[in-house]
Amino acid sequence: MTAEAGTENAGKKRDTPGDTDEEHGTYNIYLMGKRYKVPIGQTIMAAIEYAGYQFIRGCGCRAGFCGACSTVYRKEKEQKLQFALACQTRVEDEMYLVQIPFVPAYKARYDLGKMGAEDNTILTIYPEIARCVSCNTCTKSCPQDIKVMQYIQCALRGDIEKAAELSFDCIQCGLCAMRCPADIKHYHVGQLARRLRGKYIDKRSENLKMRNAEIDEGIYDNEMDDIMNSEDDVVRRMYNERTIESEEG
Ligand code: FES
Repeated sequence: MTAEAGTENAGKKRDTPGDTDEEHGTYNIYLMGKRYKVPIGQTIMAAIEYAGYQFIRGCGCRAGFCGACSTVYRKEKEQKLQFALACQTRVEDEMYLVQIPFVPAYKARYDLGKMGAEDNTILTIYPEIARCVSCNTCTKSCPQDIKVMQYIQCALRGDIEKAAELSFDCIQCGLCAMRCPADIKHYHVGQLARRLRGKYIDKRSENLKMRNAEIDEGIYDNEMDDIMNSEDDVVRRMYNERTIESEEG
């Protein structure tokens, strides 16, 4: 989120905090400590834009997939900090909002092709997982409801397959890592588990091998050129009308 654009809606205030305006369809939210009146029913992202701010960072897909719109908030009179994706969570009255466009977490460098998938592979790359105190803060912070603490425990036990499975829906927003007392970078650990599983554990797909060979031979070059030269709506229609093998029966 960046500079306030100063729309006519920006800065509208009510006299009393907690004075909801449901009959007029608005809630109070707080951005950088400043109160704004925004329409009920909007996502946090839409409400922030309604208040006059532009998203230049901290926003990507707007559909809950990219993890760019991490948000921390607290409700008036509540102590608990809560976590959400701004594009997926509806605004509530008296929300104090903070956008987290990037989590500066350490990410290990490794050569996936040279490491194998042994019981201690993840522990060697991310030894801090041994410091997990099972406080479950990571799981409570996850806007995807992923069992984060469990997949860290699986990684610690060397169960790479299960760690990959439990972390499969991770969108790398980084909120899990922000309050971890052991400084674990859970989302990087989960990503490593999935990479190891894909590289060393899961069976190779024969179809994929075949398709890669066809691509190398240039069989789809003309089709790709046609797609690249088509209008957006044509590409969209082609995508929506595509044949999905598993649905062919
Ligand atoms: S903008 Fe991509 S998850 Fe919200």
